[in-house]
Amino acid sequence: MRVRVTPGSRVAGELVVPGDKSIAHRWLVFALLGEGPSALANLPAGLDVLSTARAVTVLSGDAQPQLQGWIASTGGVGWGEGGVEGSLDRGSGSGSPEPVEVRGRPRDRLRAPEGPLDCGNSGTTLRLLAGVLAGSTIRAVLAGDESLSRRPMERVAEPLRLMGAEVATTGGRPPVEVRGAPLSGIRYRMPVPSAQVKGAVLLAGLAAEGETSVVEPGPSRDHTERMVGALGGPVRAEPGEVWVSAFDPPAFEGIVPGDVSSAAFPAGAAVLTGGRVAVADVGLNPTRTRFLDVLTRMGARVDRRPSGQVVGEPVGEITVAAGPGLRGTVIGAAELPEVVDEVPLLAVVAMHAEGESRFEGAAELRVKESDRLAGVASLIRGLGGEAAVEGDHLVVAGGGPAAVPPGHALVGGSDHRMAMAAVVGALAAPGPIEIEGLEAAAVSFPAFIPAMRALGARVEVVG
Ligand code: S3P
Repeated sequence: MRVRVTPGSRVAGELVVPGDKSIAHRWLVFALLGEGPSALANLPAGLDVLSTARAVTVLSGDAQPQLQGWIASTGGVGWGEGGVEGSLDRGSGSGSPEPVEVRGRPRDRLRAPEGPLDCGNSGTTLRLLAGVLAGSTIRAVLAGDESLSRRPMERVAEPLRLMGAEVATTGGRPPVEVRGAPLSGIRYRMPVPSAQVKGAVLLAGLAAEGETSVVEPGPSRDHTERMVGALGGPVRAEPGEVWVSAFDPPAFEGIVPGDVSSAAFPAGAAVLTGGRVAVADVGLNPTRTRFLDVLTRMGARVDRRPSGQVVGEPVGEITVAAGPGLRGTVIGAAELPEVVDEVPLLAVVAMHAEGESRFEGAAELRVKESDRLAGVASLIRGLGGEAAVEGDHLVVAGGGPAAVPPGHALVGGSDHRMAMAAVVGALAAPGPIEIEGLEAAAVSFPAFIPAMRALGARVEVVG
């Protein structure tokens, strides 16, 4: 899908964003392992979460009438009925406001799938499921689309093997075959900061004998460990290490908080266009909101109003508005994992700041849905700015576009966050720009375009 973005309007207003993708994956997985039926409201209808939902259905022997009904109601393509326009009427594509029942099935009674489990574009689906399957009594193959099939999987296979599971990757990548086995706890020192790997090891740890711990080289999102704690499980966390031991989670219920990583795009658009957006009912987990700190130190006006907790996750409202000016910033290697998904957005904001910005120790961006390190640099250049990759660092020159952008087709590949960042960047360009590949937004924010339009952005679908 190609859109034409015409700059010049302020992005302002209130919105809700779809439920948090990282949290929804985990809720679905814990509900599958839960004792009894769980009730999950505001499940986001993005393609990634649909991949996990389908896998949960298969592993529970197709005995999930409500979950299957919900999957069918989304049309299975992320847009839902009525396509991109229709999804606006359903609340910015937020999926199902009504609770969906997910029935639990003990790990030793999971149903072996007949064919490979299709994880689509979703690394989180594949890696978390590997952790679940490791402690099961079945064998399953986890596969994905072209982008996922290029991503590294030994990082998750290795610790699961150390715990006792049989795990085979295909030259280090998907498809990944997992044969469950009795597991023993380990102390695993992760070579890269990855919440997906940590989540897989902790999920396996819930089925292992003895204690399992993960030592992190840097902070990564802590949804898995929060969830174990909120469900009354044995978990302990200190900066740099987290421990769990065997636990059968109970059934639970909750409303998935809005995805703050999706909120980042309209927030960035407000900052770049002199606007102000307020996002209600959004997750405020500090391991996810670091980009708000970065925007604050760059000169944006940010306000967070916590209102409560749901299954261990803080929730509230955020307001992000343009300040009197924007300054460049340095995101050091220690901070980077906490803004890992927001680098494309922060980089297009940085392009308009005064002075250079640096994103240091950003090697992990090379193995996301696309090579975001090279991709962001080329996006910035496509928007008329200057950016360079220096080793594992991304350096973005400030000062706005140095050259007039070519006016069309900026992002290739199929990467939801790159496509949405391109639209935000184009809203502050010197002239209209056409951007290709917006269908990728369906992975996490199906109604991104109508939501941006409702806030005043001029974005037309042209092909
Ligand atoms: C996620 C972890 C991050 C992030 C991804 C979601 C998760 O990946 O980029 O969008 O839900 O655990 P890594 O763990 O590979 O850094």
